[in-house]
Amino acid sequence: MAKYPVVVYGASGYTGMLTMDWLIDQNIPFTAVARDAKRVKEMMAQRVVRLESATYEIIEAQHTVKSLVKAFKGARVVCNTVGPFAKFGLTAVEAALKAGCHHIDTTGEQEYIRNVRDQFGELYRQAGLLVSPSIAYMYSYSEIAAELALEHPGIDALQTSALCRGPRGGAAGITVGSTASIFEMYRAQQCYLWDNKLVPHPVNKSYQINSPDFMEPVFALPWGGTSLPVYFENDPRVRSCESCVGFYDNEAMKMVHAVGQKWEAEYKDLPAEHQDEVIRQLTESTTPSMPPRERTTLVRTVDTAIGRGQLSAVRATVYGTTAYIATGALQTAAVIKLLDGDTSRVGFASGSKAFGHRYLLGFLEERGLARASVTKL
Ligand SMILES: NC(=O)c1ccc[n+]([C@@H]2O[C@H](COP(=O)([O-])OP(=O)(O)OC[C@H]3O[C@@H](n4cnc5c(N)ncnc54)[C@H](OP(=O)(O)O)[C@@H]3O)[C@@H](O)[C@H]2O)c1
Repeated sequence: MAKYPVVVYGASGYTGMLTMDWLIDQNIPFTAVARDAKRVKEMMAQRVVRLESATYEIIEAQHTVKSLVKAFKGARVVCNTVGPFAKFGLTAVEAALKAGCHHIDTTGEQEYIRNVRDQFGELYRQAGLLVSPSIAYMYSYSEIAAELALEHPGIDALQTSALCRGPRGGAAGITVGSTASIFEMYRAQQCYLWDNKLVPHPVNKSYQINSPDFMEPVFALPWGGTSLPVYFENDPRVRSCESCVGFYDNEAMKMVHAVGQKWEAEYKDLPAEHQDEVIRQLTESTTPSMPPRERTTLVRTVDTAIGRGQLSAVRATVYGTTAYIATGALQTAAVIKLLDGDTSRVGFASGSKAFGHRYLLGFLEERGLARASVTKL
């Protein structure tokens, strides 16, 4: 049973520990939950900043609904960072509901998000609890940009891009969990919103983004579709929304695309356990271990929403840095609101809809993690 109001699940992971950094900064006590208490203790001692001033406990739990309910009970909010969420997510969502907790997580995996909405949205609403996936750099930043564009009258169509300095191994690397989540996308259906309906992207869809922020076009992919088309599907302001992700300084995205083409040609029809093994090998060879903490001089991001109406047009951009550190900050921004009982939504809702995009942007701006610019075109 959790002694403190906030659970960080995935407490031995890169993003779970960054969330703890921010909770400690805000003096919020937390319960760290993971499958191996000894590993959590070691990892936290290495990685969590200001741990000496934290109020916390560690609980070991198995990844089953029963074990997680036992660990979560007593808390009010679960911050879930155990991914890939396509594989592990729904178990924790069910456990948080049964334990009477709000559930927020760090993934933009679209198929999982659709499943959360369809299987748990109404149940959370009836319980007066919020279930809010994707409170993370991807795709809270793109959603903030989209909401800034939607502040302009007449905008009803959105195109968004999340462009980052991509993984180069070493210092700018992405994490083991993120790599596994990226390769999981190959077996998920990726959709965009067109005329109020979710429509699957063509297989092997890619983009060349021409942005005034870069000298050259940026190669980008739908990246599973992102959370935005799902969050805008039932939003009366929006008729269409298409979103993508690109790395603007290297060829890693092209490698991911090439493997996706190989998946379609060779792995798509294999039994699930063979596919699991392919994904395991891909993840292990791409990201063998946890990368070091991000540096502001290396990790930078540009999230843009182009909004169109009949004749109106607007371009909103959120510039950012240190995407994983920002994810911990966003989780903490959401926790502060939930502990205060200050959410405008229960059931299934995005961070921007539950807490307001201006609140989230302000929280990030105050901490040097984001800056927004809006141009009417
Ligand atoms: N959208 C975004 O911007 C964004 C940002 C950050 C993270 N994320 C997502 O968040 C997830 C976690 O990322 P991360 O950076 O924290 O990865 P990570 O460092 O690899 O951590 C993964 C965590 O999940 C736990 N885990 C893995 N398999 C498990 C299992 N079978 N049962 C129970 N726990 C298990 C790990 O525990 P052990 O230590 O015991 O293995 C660890 O605590 C990924 O899906 C990633 O894509 C998204």
